[in-house]
Amino acid sequence: MLIVHSPDALSADSDAHRVAGRRVALVPTMGALHAGHLALVDEARRHAEVVIVSIFVNPLQFNRSNDFDAYPRPLDADIDMCRAHGVEVVYAPTAADMYPAGFQTHVQPGPLADVLEGEHRPGHFRGVTTVVAKLFGAARPHVAVFGEKDFQQLAIVRRMVADLDMGIEVVGMSTVREPDGLAISSRNRRLTPEQRAAAVCVPASLAAVREHLAGGERDAQRLIAAGRAVVDAEPLARYEHLELIDPDTLAPVAAIDRPARAVTAVWFGEVRLIDNCPLVP
Ligand code: PAF
Repeated sequence: MLIVHSPDALSADSDAHRVAGRRVALVPTMGALHAGHLALVDEARRHAEVVIVSIFVNPLQFNRSNDFDAYPRPLDADIDMCRAHGVEVVYAPTAADMYPAGFQTHVQPGPLADVLEGEHRPGHFRGVTTVVAKLFGAARPHVAVFGEKDFQQLAIVRRMVADLDMGIEVVGMSTVREPDGLAISSRNRRLTPEQRAAAVCVPASLAAVREHLAGGERDAQRLIAAGRAVVDAEPLARYEHLELIDPDTLAPVAAIDRPARAVTAVWFGEVRLIDNCPLVP
């Protein structure tokens, strides 16, 4: 397995694969790899002969410095995991490799980035699109795989690729969950055992929305209330938002009369967890 740190070294390796006729896939990550990331790697493998995993905790997308500082960075374990999983290339740039002195160009996403997560995390998606554009530029992949857990991020990346003619196939991968339903996330590691037990209220609130929908309720506000009640009943949880949205425009819907998405964010102490699920009337 090749481990590279500079964008030039990554591009040179990727170009050689492309010239040799091999398809290249990129799985962008911030490290602290878990089963969810490995599922992305498996999906990438279905689309390409060469799988690159990038590992970079991107300072531009954190709007709270304590969240950035606390983000886990077990690089050696991540590299071992990639090796054991048959990854061809790990790209692990430092902040200076990614943003050298004089760096000043950013990718500004459109209105898709102003709602939901964007409202609660100002500048977050500008940081995401900037780093993803740079990762695409360095890795030159044919295909890139992203998790649906970050549903809005996936929509914004797809939009960026289309708008900027990047010519990369963007593949979304359904969320991998713990046996109790909690979406697997690097942030779960920061929960205390009590908070981890309480966090099951997040998928449970989405399940409540789906159950009420299956029971015939179509009204968005009543479905949201049903989901929110589950979070409000958990003393260690602090509800932030639960919204029912159009999966393409991300605009709120008033009723579920066509496929939609439920998206939520809930706090446990200093840790903010997000989750989402499809809703089919
Ligand atoms: O989803 C993530 O882990 C990050 O937002 C990404 C896409 C790797 C960009 O830093």
